[in-house]
Amino acid sequence: MIRKLLATVSRLGWVRKAAMSTPLLRGLAWRFVAGESQEEGLEAARRLNARGLRATLNFIGTHVRRQPEAIAAADTAVRCLERIHAAGLEAHLSMKLTQIGLDLDPGLCRRELERVLETAHALGNFIRVDMEESPYTGETLAIFQEALARHPDTVGIVLQSYLRRTRADLERMVALGARIRLVKGGYWESGEVAFRRKAEVDQAFLGDLEYLLRNGRRPAIATHDPAAVDRALQVAEQLGLAKDDLEFQMLYGVREDLAESLVRRGYRVRSYVPYGSHWYEYVLGCVRKDPGQVLQVRKAS
Ligand code: FDA
Repeated sequence: MIRKLLATVSRLGWVRKAAMSTPLLRGLAWRFVAGESQEEGLEAARRLNARGLRATLNFIGTHVRRQPEAIAAADTAVRCLERIHAAGLEAHLSMKLTQIGLDLDPGLCRRELERVLETAHALGNFIRVDMEESPYTGETLAIFQEALARHPDTVGIVLQSYLRRTRADLERMVALGARIRLVKGGYWESGEVAFRRKAEVDQAFLGDLEYLLRNGRRPAIATHDPAAVDRALQVAEQLGLAKDDLEFQMLYGVREDLAESLVRRGYRVRSYVPYGSHWYEYVLGCVRKDPGQVLQVRKAS
């Protein structure tokens, strides 16, 4: 019911505008989004660092429709890298290729990614290319692979275990020495391309995480699922990995208790910190994902 209502709200521009100004939605937003400005994103990273957590900052936005928007998104990333460096923060960036023009012109997207990667390389930082809906998977991996050849230590990718193709992609990317963030997958996908049952997705994720931990370079396991975290810890211990050979990643504002308990046990944990004026879409995504948890968190606050 709540999911249906939110889907309707998000389609109607004027309702969206009204909803964005309600205290309920704005209150919810600042649990999952650092703020509208880059300064607020950096401030969140500073606070996370003080608690022993690392950050990956994400300027919210996807599917830009005009070239200047793609260039502006890359400019924002470049500025953010410079500010992270100046402030001495332990923070990376996460970026979506449709935000820098993948829908418009893959050449533009490649050029803008390269511009961001050159800055990241010069400043000793790192860019994680987020993975979007399945029609983009092949092209995202192709662009990533070219970037990886030029910047082996500066760029990493995300793979989604819910896609039927992912095990083959995982093996190929591991063989290339790619740094991989493994996730279950966050979009609606058809049964033709993806596992649809939660049990199947969970099983695929556990299998992939074991493969990644055994074979991958600096693997990142991104989940809030305690069973998956336990399994990763178990496999890492069996393999004799050092605590900082792997990294756990979680979304800002989600399962902070789990993140902090891992930090206390000496593991690396990175929080994915979204910021920007398009926070509305991101927050609705969180509420759709788990309305119970999100609204309960709100009540408890
Ligand atoms: P699961 O879905 O089983 O969730 C476990 C519990 O976590 C839920 O019961 C709920 O309580 C809580 N939870 C999970 N997600 C939540 C949310 N958004 N809001 C509130 N509560 C939530 N996906 C993708 O397709 N491409 C990408 O690039 C990324 N990048 C990414 C980075 C990082 C750091 C994380 C943690 C996740 C992503 N994802 C992603 C999202 C991922 O694919 C997946 O949708 C979510 O992480 C939820 O899956 P879990 O593994 O947490 O398990």
